Parts: sequence; structure tokens; C-alpha cells
Amino acid sequence: MKLIIDTDPGVDDAMAFYYAHAHPQIELLALTTIFGNVTIDDALRNALWLTESVGAATKVHRGAAQPLSIPPNPPADFVHGPRGFGGIIINEPNRSAEALSAADYLISITRKHPGEITLCAVGPLTNVALAIQKDPQFLSRLQQLVIMGGTLYAKGNVSETAEANFWNDPHAAHIVLSAPQPANVITVGLDITDKIEFTAPDFDRLAQASPKAGEFLKSIGAFYLQFYQNRSGKATCSLHDPSAVIACLHPEFFTIETHGLSVAMSGDDIGQMQINTAVNARKSHVCVGGDVAIIKENFLNITGRNP
Ligand code: RIB
Ligand code: CA
Repeated sequence: MKLIIDTDPGVDDAMAFYYAHAHPQIELLALTTIFGNVTIDDALRNALWLTESVGAATKVHRGAAQPLSIPPNPPADFVHGPRGFGGIIINEPNRSAEALSAADYLISITRKHPGEITLCAVGPLTNVALAIQKDPQFLSRLQQLVIMGGTLYAKGNVSETAEANFWNDPHAAHIVLSAPQPANVITVGLDITDKIEFTAPDFDRLAQASPKAGEFLKSIGAFYLQFYQNRSGKATCSLHDPSAVIACLHPEFFTIETHGLSVAMSGDDIGQMQINTAVNARKSHVCVGGDVAIIKENFLNITGRNP
């Protein structure tokens, strides 16, 4: 599978990267970066560092620094640490970003490989929306777009009803979910990701299997686990972004409903994913549940293959 991850690294974004890097069926072409958990400068720095840490050939592109229409929310330093990697200070990477912006790269690579690219977007959807605005056929040229974002039935994680990635750029999320062009779009949101409980012993297992990448995830995961523990009283964190990458290859692990969708762009429910019952609404596949044990085991198994 030719895969691109659009990412705001971030602890669970780093987990998603190492999963994809180690998977024998994934050719990870690029990381396109986006503001969200961190500023765009830190997203780029962290993405370059991740690829460098395992000597990956994966290219890195700079994406949007802010949402399409609303003022940017502050970075989620209380969730992911001051610069995205918990309490860990990394060296500045030696690699540099590619010349093309994220949106221009997405347009260009899908023209080169129409119908072959899977895009997994695990941050705010601004880069994807910009690509659609510049080239309305962009979505139709993807093999699939798998999005970590939204929730249909579960509670939000930044408000009663909204999930963080859609809340950080609700206009972009609405453009992507309501674009009329035919497209294979799957959302993997809190309905499933908040049910997958990742623990300190799980991070220990990763560190034992993979002394470099796994140990790094264990180190940055400590901050992430502490945030969850402070919020819920439980010593477990959710497996958000890795679940979306797993869904790219294994939709059979998930329970899927198919709906027309929209996103609230103002008011108390800003960022909420909603069902659009209009007959002409483009349909997306929404992961509303799944086999929690299989998804977690698959993540641990594959990610543990890293150095
Ligand atoms: O709501 C979870 C999402 O928000 C994940 O992508 C996480 O990395 C944060 O960006
Ligand atoms: Ca993310």
C-alpha cells in the first residue's frame, strides 16, 4: 500500500508513524505536516526527526500553519508536552523538508499515481481541504482517505460533542466530508479510539521488543498517560492515530456505518460531526466500533518490529 500520513506529531502521531514504518505491506511515501497538537514549525521538526530516527526514506512536507477560517487554538501542550514529544528533548534533525507544500504535494502525487494512494489524515484536515479547493478532483484520485477524527455516538474530547482534530479546523473537516466528488472516505473517531485502552505495561512491551523506537514511545508516552490519568483517573491512554493507520489495511477489524456527513462550523457544538440525510450527500464510512483486542495486538506486534 502506498501511504501518506498527514500528521501533527504528537505522541499518538509518533505511535502511528512507527507502526506504518514497520509494516511490511506499507510503503510510507511521505509525512505531510499540519498544526494541531503543536505549531507547524514543531510538527515539521518532529516529523523530520521521526523519519531520521529510523533512517526512513519517507519525505516530509510542510503544511498549513493555521485553520481556514477560525483563529487557531493553542497547541495541546498539556496533552502532548511542550513541543509534542512529552517531556523528551530531541536533537534538531539534520534532514530538511521537501520544496512542495503539503497540499501541492498531495495534488501532484495523486496525479502521478491516480487510484493508488492511501492518505491517512491524523490531524486537522486543513491540508486536505486546501488540496480539494485547489483541485476538486483530488479526493477522487485517492484510493482511500482514512481520517482520525470526529465522533458520532461517543462523547467529544474537547467539548461535549467535538473531537480535537475536527474542532481545530471545523471548516476544513466540513469541506472534506461534504465534497460532492466520488471518494472512498473512512472516519476513525472516538467511537472506537477511546475504547482502546493503552497502558504503561503496553509501552513496556513495545520498549522490550523495539529498544530504539519502542523505548522512545515509552518515554514520550509517560507524559501522555499522565494527562489521561489526571483527566479520567484511569492509567490508560486512547489509541487514536494508530487505529486510523490500522484501518487503512484492516477495515475488517472495525464496525462500520455509512452516512452522509457534515461538521458544525459555529456555536456550542463547533467541530461536531453530524449525519446529513440529504439524498445527494456523498457517503462516508464511519467506524463506530471494532475489535479492541485485535486492533491493540496488531499495533503492538507490528510496531515492535522497529529497531
Ligand atoms: O482527538 C484525537 C486526535 O487529536 C489525535 O489525532 C491526536 O493526535 C490529536 O491530534
Ligand atoms: Ca494527531
